[in-house]
Amino acid sequence: MGLHEDIGEILFTAEQIAEIVKRMGKQISEDYADKNLVMISVLKGSLIFMADLMRAVTIPCSIDFLSVSSYGSGTTTTGEVRILKDLDTSLEGKDVLVVEDILDSGMTLSYLLSSLKARRPRSIRLCTLLDKPERRRVDIKADYEGVQVPDKFLVGYGLDYAEKYRNLPYIGVLKPEIYAE
Ligand code: IMP
Ligand code: MG
Repeated sequence: MGLHEDIGEILFTAEQIAEIVKRMGKQISEDYADKNLVMISVLKGSLIFMADLMRAVTIPCSIDFLSVSSYGSGTTTTGEVRILKDLDTSLEGKDVLVVEDILDSGMTLSYLLSSLKARRPRSIRLCTLLDKPERRRVDIKADYEGVQVPDKFLVGYGLDYAEKYRNLPYIGVLKPEIYAE
């Protein structure tokens, strides 16, 4: 079965995403021209965005990756996340840009940013491709934001549902019957 059949609506085509990413890369390149930029991808969702964004950045930069545990599928959360895979490099004196696929409740990022700040970077900012402001539960705002999206569950371009659909080249909304299965 093809992945595309499960998609009810395409929100952003590959071409539209490319335009957004290009614009973000240009802005980041200007802002970090004289800095010591390290882009940190929060796995796995931001993998594809990261790969495209770093190629839209035209200044020297390094990259690193980390992975955090989700705070479960339950309805209550402390917002505390566990680092499952840590960075390889030190952040001391670096200008850190955390790269995320989507800013939703903000719980994960809020915890992650404070934990990374303790590693004494020179600066730290947040970059997200998608922003779902309606869902926010903590006071956090991205410094670089691609586009705002409605409160719908999205897949593709790195975003998954049960680890599936990450490889779709566009961002779409799943058909409701997929959840019901
Ligand atoms: P939060 O901001 O702490 O709620 O968590 C954000 C994370 O939840 C993202 O990095 C995604 O992994 C996941 N997430 C939130 N909304 C969606 C969605 O619509 N589709 C797929 N994953 C999502
Ligand atoms: Mg993610």
